[in-house]
Amino acid sequence: MAGLLTGRVALITGASQGIGHAVAAAFSTEGAALALCARRAGPLERVAAMLLGQGADVLALPADVGKAADIAALAEAVRRRFGRLHILVNNASLLGPMVPLAEYPPEDWETVLTVNLTGPFLLTRACLSLLRAAGGGSIINISSGVGRAARKGWGAYAVSKFGLEGFTQVLADELREEGIRVNAVNPGGTRTAMRAAAVLGEDPGTLPTPEAITPVFLYLASEASRDVTGKSLDARDWIGRSVG
Ligand SMILES: NC(=O)c1ccc[n+]([C@@H]2O[C@H](COP(=O)([O-])OP(=O)(O)OC[C@H]3O[C@@H](n4cnc5c(N)ncnc54)[C@H](OP(=O)(O)O)[C@@H]3O)[C@@H](O)[C@H]2O)c1
Repeated sequence: MAGLLTGRVALITGASQGIGHAVAAAFSTEGAALALCARRAGPLERVAAMLLGQGADVLALPADVGKAADIAALAEAVRRRFGRLHILVNNASLLGPMVPLAEYPPEDWETVLTVNLTGPFLLTRACLSLLRAAGGGSIINISSGVGRAARKGWGAYAVSKFGLEGFTQVLADELREEGIRVNAVNPGGTRTAMRAAAVLGEDPGTLPTPEAITPVFLYLASEASRDVTGKSLDARDWIGRSVG
């Protein structure tokens, strides 16, 4: 039986754990071929091996989205292996220090904005010809609640997510006529390593798992959302919903 994403190619950054891993597994279950990246080779290879064992078509490449050369190599590897791209999920990000802006180290500011905002910009640019080769597609940028209403102590992370929301809207408007849709997703608090580092003392058992929040990603990646672009959706609203 054909899946929701059969015949589609999806590139997901930061796919070795947490939300990126869960989205990769969900897309693969629906028939997508996958290109995955993260900085550390070991965890990424373990995820790729697991998905391959389940019959997935997977390209896994260690790459740092904060490095322009890694981004170029990643897009080129996707071009060589698949020749086109239908879905790009800009998921990788860094939390950075949780300190007031007055005390925020400038070098951390630079690193967080480079990975969380410039990385998606550069990777999207590098992938545009592949998305066009597919005849259209879906770009999904992972935002955050603090990218819509900021709170003290969230520093460059919050600022980068505000930037990503703006990037989403500008790009959506520019690519609308080409059938390339661009949307943002706020996952909401989710049971991952990043969340545990951000909110100390929280009981992870009270949070949805990364697997539970995948329906919104399936929706945005698939034909079910063919008219949706320039939006910012909440993953929590989609928990338990079936798509397609
Ligand atoms: N969890 C939440 O509650 C929550 C809430 C709101 C928004 N978000 C957003 O959801 C997304 C996923 O978060 P998560 O909680 O799943 O995070 P996570 O558990 O920390 O996982 C992050 C993933 O990104 C990779 N990564 C980090 N920096 C990278 C870089 N420079 N280049 C390439 N890969 C990189 C990590 O692998 P390596 O370390 O090997 O690179 C890992 O695979 C992020 O955009 C985050 O801001 C999460």
